[in-house]
Amino acid sequence: MAAGSDQANWSSRWTFIMAAVGSAVGLGNIWLFPFKAGQSGGAAFVLVYLGFSFLIGVPLLMTELSLGRRGRMSPIGSMKKIAAEEKRSPLWGLIGWSGVLGAFIILSFYSVVGGWTLAYMVKAAMGFQGLDATAATSLFTDFIGHATEPLVSHAIFMGITMYIVARGVQGGLEKAVSVMMPALFGLLVLLVAYAAFTGAFADALAFLFTPDFGKLTPAVVIDALGQSFFSLSLAMGSIMTYGAYLNRDVKIGPSALTIAAADSTVALLAGLAIFPIVFQFGISASGGPGLVFMSLPIAFGQMPGGQIIGTLFFALLSMAAITSSISLLEPAVSYLEHRWKVDRKKSALTIAAAAFALGVLSALGQEGNMLGNVRIFGQSIMDAKGYLTNNIMMPLGGMFTALFVGWFVSRKAMADELALTDAQFRFWYTIVRYVAPIAVFLVFLSVTVL
Ligand code: TRP
Repeated sequence: MAAGSDQANWSSRWTFIMAAVGSAVGLGNIWLFPFKAGQSGGAAFVLVYLGFSFLIGVPLLMTELSLGRRGRMSPIGSMKKIAAEEKRSPLWGLIGWSGVLGAFIILSFYSVVGGWTLAYMVKAAMGFQGLDATAATSLFTDFIGHATEPLVSHAIFMGITMYIVARGVQGGLEKAVSVMMPALFGLLVLLVAYAAFTGAFADALAFLFTPDFGKLTPAVVIDALGQSFFSLSLAMGSIMTYGAYLNRDVKIGPSALTIAAADSTVALLAGLAIFPIVFQFGISASGGPGLVFMSLPIAFGQMPGGQIIGTLFFALLSMAAITSSISLLEPAVSYLEHRWKVDRKKSALTIAAAAFALGVLSALGQEGNMLGNVRIFGQSIMDAKGYLTNNIMMPLGGMFTALFVGWFVSRKAMADELALTDAQFRFWYTIVRYVAPIAVFLVFLSVTVL
């Protein structure tokens, strides 16, 4: 335990990295990234996404980790405490609120998609033999168009998330992530190799890496920004909460770089595993949320050992999703625990139940389902929630966090927390003072005004 703190720490630098990578790597990389890249026309989106992740994402990861480690409370508590120490307005606590609330909204639909992966694990175990593109598509649309299966799997996914968070992040989680993340990585590499030999690999490479900058509309740029923040678990309290459990002797800079590198590597691997199959079988690259579920099963149905590999893949994807969803539940739970002294089990149960209820709307809001025709500003319920969190709350949260640290927290306190060389610190400081707020603001403005 750290001095003056009533909570336990990560047991080592390695378990912290694994937990943070576990939070970052999830459905965002394997489900959302290929689907967004496909809709945005490929390489130009990919490049902008990578640029945002390293130029702005890494400095913001460092910022959130240091705020969390300094505050040692929930995101709300930490922001208020630091604002008070710096003699700034308690309104900065709103950044924490936006994070806790945003994470809660994300959790509500994240768990629905997490449920899809659980259900597909069972489907994979029964075998996808002989599935062609049409059959794979209708398998998916049929599945999400009915109420029972998606709701049951949503409940199971949320239940697992709740169970782990209720037991505390350390014991089970630490052990689980350090095995699961490397396993998922290995399996992805295997799938890329398979796609390279049997799929339309050259087309996929061209699609992902030969940019056509004519496709770079403001909407694509903000999508890339939202994708990068989402994938890195930024601006929603997850990373700040994990920072609160971080030992003082862990170096924040290299940790942030490791997290971002692992995160974008997994996203690119997922793209390289999926797009060769997409192009080979003539699936539409802009197919939306079903892309992963409609493409990979075709490959699993054809490859030798596909039943086992497919089951394993969806099992690991579910686990990657669970190591992310716990970091979405944790901010609100840590708030109830620290601020209102609510028992951890009770708060996990309450918040998970509420997020489940909100998620039901997303599950039933899929095409062909009971609420499939509901439109919020022209979008389905799930898309509207994603738009609110990824395109509005996350950019604003990231921008205000950067402004706070760049202009309202003493420079010396940040320098002590980050322990960088002078040159590194100046670089980080320039990014959080100027580059990140201006870039995020311009991107945000271009979408709201244009
Ligand atoms: N980054 C995770 C993924 O890619 C999802 C996630 C976890 C997240 N915590 C977050 C997204 C906080 C935004 C904010 O699947």
